[in-house]
Amino acid sequence: MKIGIGNDHSAVEMKQEVMKFLQDLGYEVVNYGTDSTESCDYPVYGEKVGRAVAAGDVDLGILICGTGVGISLAANKVKGVRAVVCSEPYSARLSRQHNNTNILAFGARVIGIELAKMIIEEWLNAEFEGGRHQRRVDMIMAIQDK
Ligand code: RB5
Repeated sequence: MKIGIGNDHSAVEMKQEVMKFLQDLGYEVVNYGTDSTESCDYPVYGEKVGRAVAAGDVDLGILICGTGVGISLAANKVKGVRAVVCSEPYSARLSRQHNNTNILAFGARVIGIELAKMIIEEWLNAEFEGGRHQRRVDMIMAIQDK
């Protein structure tokens, strides 16, 4: 499975640790983020990963900025993206099982790397349950076409 990762200047170190973690788990990782700590604009990276996921260039995306908020908001503007910001594993798991999220975001200034790893594992190991959840996800996605 291929995972696209994106980040702004606030999350360079965490991005590198997350990339290593994912590679050690056997995932292929594509880096769409910045590797510089010079101040930059998070919407650029949210959009890049959002477009890569929507186009099928990668299977899933992970986004990290200071809070995870701005970068996920940007990704959610790309048609086909369902990005979630999570600071704990329960919502991360449910966001896949019920909401079929395709991008996970979190904040490098909010959580530490060990919690980030738990959240990522929970998210990646969960599966969309379909059924009534499919109907609701379809309703969400229909909003962007109205
Ligand atoms: C950058 O200072 C910060 O605003 C950004 O990383 C993020 O937290 C935005 O939501």
